[in-house]
Amino acid sequence: MERVLKELGQRPPLIFAGEARQLQSHLAAVSRGEAFLLQAGDCAESFEASADSIRDRLKVILQMSVIMTYSTGVPVIKVGRIAGQFAKPRSSDTETIDEIELPAFRGPMVNDPDFTHDGRTANPGRLLTAYDRAAATLNLLRAFTQGGYAGLSQVHAWNQEFVATSPAGRRYEEIAAEIDRALLFMAACGVSPGSHPDLETVDFYTSHEALILGYEEALTRRDSLTDDWFDCSAHMVWIGERTRQLDGAHMEFMRGIGNPIGCKIGPSASPEQVLDICEGLNPERIPGRLTLITRMGSDKVGDHLPPILEAVRDAEHPVVWVSDPMHGNTFVADDGRKTRHFEDVLTEIKGFFAAHDAAGTYPGGIHIELTGDDVTECLGGAQELDHTDLKYRYETTCDPRLNGTQSIDLAFRVAELIRH
Ligand code: PEP
Ligand code: CO
Repeated sequence: MERVLKELGQRPPLIFAGEARQLQSHLAAVSRGEAFLLQAGDCAESFEASADSIRDRLKVILQMSVIMTYSTGVPVIKVGRIAGQFAKPRSSDTETIDEIELPAFRGPMVNDPDFTHDGRTANPGRLLTAYDRAAATLNLLRAFTQGGYAGLSQVHAWNQEFVATSPAGRRYEEIAAEIDRALLFMAACGVSPGSHPDLETVDFYTSHEALILGYEEALTRRDSLTDDWFDCSAHMVWIGERTRQLDGAHMEFMRGIGNPIGCKIGPSASPEQVLDICEGLNPERIPGRLTLITRMGSDKVGDHLPPILEAVRDAEHPVVWVSDPMHGNTFVADDGRKTRHFEDVLTEIKGFFAAHDAAGTYPGGIHIELTGDDVTECLGGAQELDHTDLKYRYETTCDPRLNGTQSIDLAFRVAELIRH
């Protein structure tokens, strides 16, 4: 482990501090109610992720962003749970199948999902593989987002066939056709990618849960421009629901880095605890520095969120409020698979918007677990997936993700909520 951390400490940073500062300024705009944050990606990325799967996840995020921007006129800040989302906090240390008990899978940065003794044995060499995979993923994302693939002229290309045949996919095609017409109109007026290169590129940022502190610390470097410390493993990092203790190591680490940071807030958090988190992580009240990602559950959001919003509002902390409608709505289906229902996801988001409306605060974004693939992991949505469908394509190694069609559907629903 020591040898690996030393080696990681000598590897080049994956991001540059100026990029993290730029994301923070975009998040400051979100905190003022001038933009919306879409943070999305896998629950746990796989070391085996192919170029196609990375591209398809990016496609869905770009589609969701276009739907929300086009329908609301609000700029969408795009942050992937990608290029480093390799470590998982677990509620239970072990997993038992057929009376065999083995260590729980903790993400490929630690061990393997394979239910064997070897697979589940933690191996520090995996930290180096995580770095390599993060670097390769980020390299591809930079190529896609800066090399023309993510430009608005490509809106049709992002609609994968299995999505395009769904009602949400057809609705997306209508928007794409309108964007085409708008681009032609703008070109006729002299505004084209030739004169405005930013029409062909997109700002896309990376994020993950900063769980394995050895890895994060080894990639924390001093910015030569400001002398401040930045965690150069991703643009944004967050603290999970299980590691947000005020006197804990994760909180201490996050206090010391200059990146924009997030903290998950679950139903057990009291308004006082949340205020302490705000004071601890953002004592100078810098807008865009702190994003609170609330994940209450569809049945709890109505009771638990309002007092927290009021306390933070009254203390005048400039936080970015984001709804994670996934992690409070997980349950185990009859066949033993973990799943979530699309309607519960939507209900939590509606509760989030309603609570902000009542408190006079700004619902600044959503945090979603999704994949570009046509998986059957979450129930419901326009395809009306039910329990018997889960067995067809259940591919996640951790939590159930929305598939491409469910994600597009969700984007339309969220756009309606933003408009109202
Ligand atoms: C996650 O985001 O994958 C996660 C484990 O969330 P939480 O910390 O909110 O449970
Ligand atoms: Co998850």
